[in-house]
Amino acid sequence: MDKMWAGRFEKALDKQADDFNSSIHFDKKMYKEDIKGSIEHALMLSSVGIITKEEYLQIADGLNSILDDLNSGALAFDENAEDIHMFNEAELTKRIGDTGKKLHTARSRNDQVALDLRLYMRNQTNDIIALLKELIKVTRDKAEENQNAIMPGYTHLQRAQPVTFAHHLLAYCMMLMRDVTRLEDALTRMNYSPLGSCALAGTTYPTDRDMVAKNLGFDGVCMNSIDGVSDRDYCIELESAFSTIMMHLSRFSEEIILWSSWEFKFVELDDSYTTGSSIMPQKKNPDMAELVRGKTGRVYGDLMATLTMLKGIPLAYNKDMQEDKEAIFDATETVIKCLGVFIPMIKTMTPIKENMYQAAGKGFINATDLADYLTKKGMPFRSAYKIVGTIVGECIKKNITLDQMTLEEYKAHSEIFENDLYGEISLETCVAKRISKGSTGYASVKEQLEYVTEFLK
Ligand code: ARG
Repeated sequence: MDKMWAGRFEKALDKQADDFNSSIHFDKKMYKEDIKGSIEHALMLSSVGIITKEEYLQIADGLNSILDDLNSGALAFDENAEDIHMFNEAELTKRIGDTGKKLHTARSRNDQVALDLRLYMRNQTNDIIALLKELIKVTRDKAEENQNAIMPGYTHLQRAQPVTFAHHLLAYCMMLMRDVTRLEDALTRMNYSPLGSCALAGTTYPTDRDMVAKNLGFDGVCMNSIDGVSDRDYCIELESAFSTIMMHLSRFSEEIILWSSWEFKFVELDDSYTTGSSIMPQKKNPDMAELVRGKTGRVYGDLMATLTMLKGIPLAYNKDMQEDKEAIFDATETVIKCLGVFIPMIKTMTPIKENMYQAAGKGFINATDLADYLTKKGMPFRSAYKIVGTIVGECIKKNITLDQMTLEEYKAHSEIFENDLYGEISLETCVAKRISKGSTGYASVKEQLEYVTEFLK
């Protein structure tokens, strides 16, 4: 196919160079946005008198027929086309003749591609927000069902203090809620139309950029045409937010992988989200969680690729910028696919409360509460801390837990100890007595559940 710009050249582009240059195999994803943007551009051209009303109608009909045919599969993408913009324009001219050649008046591919990607990423980001909300909801519901499931809370992966499974899951809800607001925040900053920036300097035609921006749902136009065609900040913001989402999913995955091991067995994953081994008949592997953890690096890589691609290019458009798309498409698809399996995996996951409780009974995770017991009876916390440390050491030697020490043995350490200490160090009491805001206490967890529900409204 002859290039649209062939006039200036004496020789055709080398085949290998042509393939290297072409972006249609990935930017065809944006065909709907490209067509939508072109229709609004043509409407604006007719409204300011650059083309006639009839010409606009012809262009809109032609573009809509291309859209229908691409949607139905009746029209295939020409993989030899340079990019989706050239493809749609050439196809339009094929269908409606010379009027099609008027579409590109007062526009450049530089502002066209900038527009298409913003429109495309706005849609994808809204889809990701919806998926995140769904994940928050299933995680919240799982928390609600497990308000009485006591498990060890960890620091350094060492048993630390008793918490409820609900409290632990709600921590992920908080992270995912911040992920939603991060994306919403990026959306407000990126929602300005670059169209009409043209190649870089604007145009001599009396265009109405605000009209196109309004019709395409933007909050306004990019105020500097050089910036309009050069800005990919929003890609970096989105990829950064996607990276944070993946980091959260990866931490959650790591816990699920640990929890479903025989060493923990705090949860059982549903068969539909686990796989077997080709050799070991007993195996049930948490592949989905592992893949999510593994794919996190890809998204970080996409962020790094975009940051690096942009750092050295002078204003305005440079072909380097074509690389923005493969990176952000990959990051977007990865996040969408990961959320797609993560949501039902959490929804169908069964907590094994007995095992959590048993694990919570070991490891002296009520030691802080025992120290608090002494403190509340008047002993300074540091002294209480020291005494309890000595008691724990004694228990370890005797291979018993704190509730198995006799009162007599306790009294040998301090006269303050009375029979009521045993009630104070039961796991249930340890949880129930956590009354501070945001704590693992039952009332606090209820408040957190409510907080998440409010967010989702
Ligand atoms: N395929 C190009 C891209 O993705 C479209 C813009 C081309 N503009 C240009 N001046 N060559 O960046």
